[in-house]
Amino acid sequence: MRVVSGIQPTGSLHLGNYLGAIRNWVRMQDGMEEGSQCLFFLADLHAISMPHDPAELRRATLEMAAALVACGIDPDRSILFNQAQVPAHAELQWLLNGTARMGWLNRMTQFKDKSGKNREGASVALFTYPVLQAADVLLYQATHVPVGEDQKQHLELARDIAQKFNNDFCAEDAPVFTLPDPIIPPDAARIMSLRDGTAKMSKSDPSDMSRVNLADDADTVAKKVKKAKTDPEPLPSEAAGLEGRPEALNLVTIYAALSDSTVEAVLGQYGGQGFGAFKPALADLMVESLSPVTGRFTELLRDRESLDAILARGAARARDIAGPTLDATYSALGLLRG
Ligand code: TYM
Repeated sequence: MRVVSGIQPTGSLHLGNYLGAIRNWVRMQDGMEEGSQCLFFLADLHAISMPHDPAELRRATLEMAAALVACGIDPDRSILFNQAQVPAHAELQWLLNGTARMGWLNRMTQFKDKSGKNREGASVALFTYPVLQAADVLLYQATHVPVGEDQKQHLELARDIAQKFNNDFCAEDAPVFTLPDPIIPPDAARIMSLRDGTAKMSKSDPSDMSRVNLADDADTVAKKVKKAKTDPEPLPSEAAGLEGRPEALNLVTIYAALSDSTVEAVLGQYGGQGFGAFKPALADLMVESLSPVTGRFTELLRDRESLDAILARGAARARDIAGPTLDATYSALGLLRG
């Protein structure tokens, strides 16, 4: 079993990332059997697909590394690094660009969302972004990729690319790439914005009130929950009653995920009550769940040298694992390298 996943170091780590992905990373790491391996990386190469400020990217990369360690990623047990220190990611992307089809990339909803009405002005990197993502996982022969629902389409593309490459360039009994399986949490696959229950919670939302960041202090969390958009109805006693109430559903989902419970169980407890009672309970639960993470995070951020060392060591280990797959890819394509 080889687990591989990444996160873009843009903005802060928020509750959606945590419940949708990072918590699963930690659980998979902690349940790993002998001989299995986890690789987790900061997708800094992906972050340059949108306009960005270099100083901010440097800062955010270290901050995200600290956040992951604070959440429980153990750099001794897992391999933690940033893409930019492992050139094989960019190399393999180029090699896979020969296999990925324009039509496949044209169907990617993230490109449509992020480029919006300005397709002509979008970067080429934003278009070919999913090919880099395929390279990220195929490079390490990933078997399992823990992600939120929004990354499912990208992983299906990674499988398509792997399959076509294996078909086109490899003997049937000697494929170069393993087809990775996405691992999506059933309970928190999509955490939505606190301001709009139909939009996902996102680092790129201009309103900080739309998300709870793992670094937010207790007062900020309480304020954001209090101001979260809701409707005037009390909570229903059954999940069916949340239909057509995206904001209410989102808050109950968050409560269920944080308390390792289910939407039904939360409604069993809070059904019939209004948000005046539910919101403070949710804010308390958030603060209680996040405060250990926030404390460790602040401490780690102060130790720049240790963070640099963690990423350098992780990158060296990642480069070693990547080598054979990269060599096999060049060779399968008939590219001579001395
Ligand atoms: P990114 O940085 O947007 O998000 C990191 C992880 O958090 C999940 N996530 C969410 N889950 C539930 N609700 C939400 N509101 C929410 N927002 C984010 C994402 O699904 C993701 O798992 N392209 C990727 C990074 C990446 C990657 C990879 C992931 C690059 N290469 C290879 C897996 C494998 C991204 O931008 O995630």
